[in-house]
Amino acid sequence: MSARLEVEILTLFPRMCEGYLAESILGKAREAGLVSVTVSDVREHARGKHRVADDAPYGGGAGMVMKPEPLTEAIEAARSRLPGALVVMTSPRGQALDQALARRLSAHGKLVLVCGRYEGVDERVLAAVDMEVSIGDFVLTGGELAALCVVDAAARLVPGVLGNEASAGAESFAGEETFLEYPQYTRPPEFRGMKVPEVLLSGDHRRIERWRRRESLRVTRERRPDLFARARLTETDLRLIDAGDDEL
Ligand code: ADE
Repeated sequence: MSARLEVEILTLFPRMCEGYLAESILGKAREAGLVSVTVSDVREHARGKHRVADDAPYGGGAGMVMKPEPLTEAIEAARSRLPGALVVMTSPRGQALDQALARRLSAHGKLVLVCGRYEGVDERVLAAVDMEVSIGDFVLTGGELAALCVVDAAARLVPGVLGNEASAGAESFAGEETFLEYPQYTRPPEFRGMKVPEVLLSGDHRRIERWRRRESLRVTRERRPDLFARARLTETDLRLIDAGDDEL
């Protein structure tokens, strides 16, 4: 059976990606066959003895531009290996990656992620691309980290990847895209004079749930007023948000 999420990354620097993909949750998901990720070297499609993949920009200016032929051919080859795949180019001018987009990409099931490099990519490559995605309003030296962000965010939504099925469920219940996470603690109960909130030691699961919800709401209101303004709050939320610990 094929994996629930199949990804092919096209890059000039495969080794930049491989380490990240081999470790931890992603590495395990790949071993378990839940997610498949292959990394292909765009240079294999570059011509000549030196396999040149970039060239100076028409019109002048600093830096180099990725040539259209190798990248377009690499995309076509990937499309034939992964029929029906969505071809996504990482670029600062793409659609902003957020949790909703991560869900869409994950649900699509087949992705080809094209990493740009140097100062840019010949505009004509876009004819072979379905969409561009940005991971934020800053500029990286290349698209590899952005592609890894897409793989990571999409892979953890595949059922079974997080191991504990409750994690994915609990977090969509907590409205992952609407609210920030509540604070987490582990042992010891006191570290350098800082105590774990008493509620979390109480064993009272309903109270713990209310505490976490309240903290989530508070952290979001404080740090991301934009998210908070968009969130739909329940009656319980409105009551909780200004409650003291003894009122939970
Ligand atoms: N490549 C360079 N900068 C990037 C960004 N912010 N997002 C996606 N791809 C990029």
